[in-house]
Amino acid sequence: MPALLVLNGPNLNLLGQREPAVYGAATLADVDALCVKAGQAHDVRVECLQSNHEGVLIDAIHAAGRRHAAGELIGVVFNAGAYTHTSVALHDAIKGAAVPVIEVHISNVHAREPFRHHSYLSPAAAGIVVGFGIDGYRLAIEGLVRRAQA
Ligand code: DQA
Repeated sequence: MPALLVLNGPNLNLLGQREPAVYGAATLADVDALCVKAGQAHDVRVECLQSNHEGVLIDAIHAAGRRHAAGELIGVVFNAGAYTHTSVALHDAIKGAAVPVIEVHISNVHAREPFRHHSYLSPAAAGIVVGFGIDGYRLAIEGLVRRAQA
């Protein structure tokens, strides 16, 4: 069974308690459960990882690239949180690992503060899902599955 990685970056472990007016009431455990269920509907095993540390996220992208090259992993659904707006290193990791990454944001970052309007990830991403709440993770999983089948 092919696998897919759902990777969440800094502060997303606080979902449910963090700015609920922006991010909603669902917890990270709810997001992970939603993603596993979305994968099951397409016979894809979903693996979930969250880290507040940029280097851990970079290592996860590198490992995903190796598994993608081996034919084990169809891609990564990645909400990099605030590192989206700061991290050249994550941009380089995605390009270097050559693994399809779908960038996800729960909120519509373009309707928020100007510092959230720029993403270092978008030019390296295979696709972007923004502003659909946590349902965006399901949409991204479905997009990755279709991409892998195309
Ligand atoms: C976020 C948007 C980012 O600007 C923010 O730093 C986050 C969450 C989102 O999912 O809407 O941590 O990526």
